[in-house]
Amino acid sequence: MTHRILILGGTAEARQLAGKLAARASVTLSLAGRTESPVEQGVPVRTGGFGGADGLAAYLREMRVDLMIDATHPYAAQISANAAQAARASGVPILALRRPGWEPVEGDRWTLVDTFGDAAQALGPLPRRVFLALGRQEVAVFEAAPQHHYLIRSVDPVEPTLAVPDAEYLLARGPFREPDERALLEKHRIEVVVSKNSGGAATYGKIAAARALGLDVVMVRRPDLPDVPSAETVEALTAIVDQFGVDHFVEPAAERGV
Ligand SMILES: NC(=O)c1ccc[n+]([C@@H]2O[C@H](COP(=O)([O-])OP(=O)(O)OC[C@H]3O[C@@H](n4cnc5c(N)ncnc54)[C@H](OP(=O)(O)O)[C@@H]3O)[C@@H](O)[C@H]2O)c1
Repeated sequence: MTHRILILGGTAEARQLAGKLAARASVTLSLAGRTESPVEQGVPVRTGGFGGADGLAAYLREMRVDLMIDATHPYAAQISANAAQAARASGVPILALRRPGWEPVEGDRWTLVDTFGDAAQALGPLPRRVFLALGRQEVAVFEAAPQHHYLIRSVDPVEPTLAVPDAEYLLARGPFREPDERALLEKHRIEVVVSKNSGGAATYGKIAAARALGLDVVMVRRPDLPDVPSAETVEALTAIVDQFGVDHFVEPAAERGV
């Protein structure tokens, strides 16, 4: 019998995981629908919110999902919380792909903050040249610090643009290599980088480049995520599924109330 796996995605790892697991099960990848032209995912995709944890639980039951894998971005805390709650409510087992965050190394000049609003404050009162490597939803709070020059890079256009007098916009999709990031920071005479602690190699280039150039980094700490069984890499997660088989995670239908 072919098992059904739902992968909550929106990351490169989710796409890779879907490709690997597609040989073992019937895989559907779920995207929020934020990005206007997402890259080809290689497996069947469903798009858009589920309607909270209840909506996701209903979807899991209706589609007879055997295993859900939360492979969303570490800053997508709401969907991860919903996934854990929906798994409990529906009895559908859950695994998470949780890539580890970056750790500061010698030469890094990080200021750690809890929120994007705190990051805007941490830039200080004097005008600075700031690189915001953040999503378009996160940059709005920087309107509270209009004294700075901002270089804002996002996958989709920031609309509306920020109500600050001095901002430039760049559209680009990673991965970003260190030499290119260094050239970008130098070209725009950036003094401070604001970043999420995304982890992984695809967006680490700017952190390494900032270190090489002796620039400050305001690092927004990761949000709290629910405690569910997890692996740190696509390979490790695939190995767990292989070792136990999807059946291992599937509770008898009676216990799930289906
Ligand atoms: N946040 C980031 O920094 C970041 C970076 C790169 C990629 N992404 C990806 O972008 C997507 C949205 O991120 P976010 O931070 O806006 O999420 P979020 O704040 O955690 O979630 C907000 C709502 O969006 C819907 N949603 C989120 N991810 C979904 C998915 N994979 N499939 C279906 N619905 C989803 C859910 O709506 P309902 O409640 O209606 O179900 C969720 O409640 C995620 O897929 C994430 O992996 C996020």
